[in-house]
Amino acid sequence: MSTPLKAILELKEMFTQNLSQVSSAQDLDAVRVAFVGKKGHVTNLLKQLGSLSIEEKRELGPLIQKLKKEIEESVNAKRQENILRGNNNDSSFDVTAYHPGYIPGTLHPYTHFIREVEHIFSSMGFDLLDGPELETDENNFSKLNIPQDHPARDMYDTFWTTIPGMLLRTHTSSVQARTMKSHALPLAGISIGRVFRHEAVDASHDTTFMQCEGIYIDKNVTLKHLFGVIQECINALFNTKDLTIRTRPGFFPFVEPGVEIDMQCPFCTKGCSTCKKTRWIEVFPGGMIHPNVLKAAGIDHTKYSGFAFGFGLTRLAMLKYKIRDIRLFHSGKVAFLDQFS
Ligand code: PHE
Repeated sequence: MSTPLKAILELKEMFTQNLSQVSSAQDLDAVRVAFVGKKGHVTNLLKQLGSLSIEEKRELGPLIQKLKKEIEESVNAKRQENILRGNNNDSSFDVTAYHPGYIPGTLHPYTHFIREVEHIFSSMGFDLLDGPELETDENNFSKLNIPQDHPARDMYDTFWTTIPGMLLRTHTSSVQARTMKSHALPLAGISIGRVFRHEAVDASHDTTFMQCEGIYIDKNVTLKHLFGVIQECINALFNTKDLTIRTRPGFFPFVEPGVEIDMQCPFCTKGCSTCKKTRWIEVFPGGMIHPNVLKAAGIDHTKYSGFAFGFGLTRLAMLKYKIRDIRLFHSGKVAFLDQFS
């Protein structure tokens, strides 16, 4: 009888030879069983270890285990190779075949939220409007009653491009200017999209975030319509009728009067860190579209009036999903995204 060490080497050689002759999945399985099956050569060798001295066990045990592992790996590799080459010419399925697995994707929280907001406003009869992120000075500022050198331009830390007169839009109000010109009246629409500001980044500020702009122009539109629409939006978003709104004067050159609409904090009754202990959260700036803006779009401001609002979609999404850090939105962190499956 050969020594165990010799037997290991012989088995290895025998396996290599047998494997090279394999031409079907059945052959491959037969080889696997012959070597590492319950009664296979390598399994037998392992069993024989029991009758050897401790020194021999120590020396041979790891070698036999290593051989077993190598054989199993070679069999798997061969199986995979056959599948890839299409050599799997037998009709049966190999249920033990390696499956690479997959990581299911999730929708970005923005996608969930945008769909929800669009649904809410479409149900109220608003159209979905769109505009570009690379904008003209005219649409972003001038036509919105913010001429060159107007101090209100300082409200927006603008990314200017190297193309004269072109910028990354600082707000979705630019879509107002575009749409008013091209649409027939009456007009009701919202526009959701990315906006850009040259700001220092921290947990609540980013250079890129999302806004939702809404406009409604018709005869006899008043602030009351605006308040009603915003209240309806809050009811639907937070699935309640208990959150009221309050309004304060606000200034934006393209609305007159301008308002800040605050909503009651959805998370507390006595004040919390989200509402900074005030019970109110400032979320919806808006107002009646300034006559100068209507005029710039060729609309007769003596016949028509309209409201506009523009809320931070990112901010509202943070509130709704309780996201504490704005930077997570663009972080690409799978652990963050996984929570929105
Ligand atoms: N565009 C304004 C901003 O980004 C918000 C706004 C929109 C205010 C519409 C009034 C009316 O700050």
